[in-house]
Amino acid sequence: MSTPTADIGLIGLAVMGENLVLNMEDHGFTVAVYNRTTSRVDEFLADRAKGKKIIGCHSIEKLVASLKSPRKIMIMVKAGAAVDAVIDQLVPHLEKGDILIDGGNTHYPDTTRRTRALKEKGLQFIGTGVSGGEEGALKGPSIMPGGDPEAWPPVKPIFQSIAAKVDDGTPCCDWVGPEGAGHYVKMVHNGIEYGDMQLICEAYHLLHSLLGFNAEALHEVFDRWNSGPLDSYLIEITRDIFGYRDPETGKPMVDLILDTAGQKGTGKWTVVSSADLGVPLTLIAEAVYARCLSALKDERVRASKILKGPADESFSGNIQQFVDDVEMALYASKIMSYAQGFALMNAMAKESGWTIDNGKVALMWRGGCIIRSAFLGKIKEAFDRTPDLDNLMLDPYFHHEIERAQNGWRRVVSVAVSRGIPVPAMSSALAYYDGYRSDRLPTNLLQAQRDYFGAHTYERIDRSRGEFFHTNWTGRGGTTASTTYNA
Ligand code: 6PG
Repeated sequence: MSTPTADIGLIGLAVMGENLVLNMEDHGFTVAVYNRTTSRVDEFLADRAKGKKIIGCHSIEKLVASLKSPRKIMIMVKAGAAVDAVIDQLVPHLEKGDILIDGGNTHYPDTTRRTRALKEKGLQFIGTGVSGGEEGALKGPSIMPGGDPEAWPPVKPIFQSIAAKVDDGTPCCDWVGPEGAGHYVKMVHNGIEYGDMQLICEAYHLLHSLLGFNAEALHEVFDRWNSGPLDSYLIEITRDIFGYRDPETGKPMVDLILDTAGQKGTGKWTVVSSADLGVPLTLIAEAVYARCLSALKDERVRASKILKGPADESFSGNIQQFVDDVEMALYASKIMSYAQGFALMNAMAKESGWTIDNGKVALMWRGGCIIRSAFLGKIKEAFDRTPDLDNLMLDPYFHHEIERAQNGWRRVVSVAVSRGIPVPAMSSALAYYDGYRSDRLPTNLLQAQRDYFGAHTYERIDRSRGEFFHTNWTGRGGTTASTTYNA
């Protein structure tokens, strides 16, 4: 058998896999590729991979035999059972010290399980987030690897060379942490992506439905916003979407698209994790449910004929001022969303014993990924100033920015409410802000209610924390209190 020459192998030649292979090859690595439907390998070799240092393989055995030791094999198949199936096929052909890498949108507990199981077999496992879509995969994605730390040094040069770079050349890829930490961070990235997209849609709804802006006017607004604090990939592509016309009808494409959102589950996982950890993640939760509500299209159409909104649905004010206010509402809400997302990562790191460096995460998201933005540079600076910052809002820069944005933000939420335009993300962000800055909330009453009907006990403001009391509110109950555990 000839000497193996490939630096890395990749299984799964769908959009992301194919583009990652070309990116690796472009950075000087020889890549061996395999796909279950082997005709895909031949097509790839005859087309985009033609004349490149890419070795096509029709079997797992051939792929394994083509790789230099320790073998590094990246799996780019659909998250879930397919990943386990590929791992099971590979394992009998591998040797101790070989490295498997799952680059799909895997649920993080699966990555923890796989890291542990493969470690027992003497194999090393990395579960990595890869963000940036098709173009990112080809030209420089953001890569968020976690898993077995021993696997990182041999993989690092490949990943860091293909990753996106920030202005000073730092790659948007660094070791995140053990077990499922990389996929956890990618999951939160996706949750934040849901939040950003929902906020943009709410801004669009206000400008389009309330002010009557057409696609052309929206294109201009988003173009302007893209040179302000909202400067980001998602604002930029939204601008371009507004500028795109359907070649068949000549109409703005956006106006022809059905208003029902799809989702593959990463946003939902983020919300479930936040509920498990007791961390408010209200904006992302609203973004997930807004997609669910949009999917009830037929029901909504029926309801629209029955349920009435406010009598006056028109806008009467200064249009330019309102557009600027919407920009501020989007901006301030975005700060809330990232504050919640980073707080969630802090809580998960604490819970699982991982160390997640929020500054490093912000840098990894600064370029290459779907949520890339100038704003993430500011977040990186905030965590550089205070690495253990409890909440992004408390950083002086952000706290000042919220002050600057809050009047416009409040005006937008009130106008939206009074005119019947749903802004679940912007309004829940504002409620979170007002809740977080309150030294006293009405939960004293809630505790009284819990104690009234279930003897759940309460603490008192005039006694030490940790001392629990029960009142026999009606005179009919006993004196036995229920236990004081909290979920
Ligand atoms: C990325 C994206 C990507 C995600 C899509 C679709 O970082 O490149 O997050 O991983 O799969 O955005 O997600 P939904 O179908 O759930 O919207």
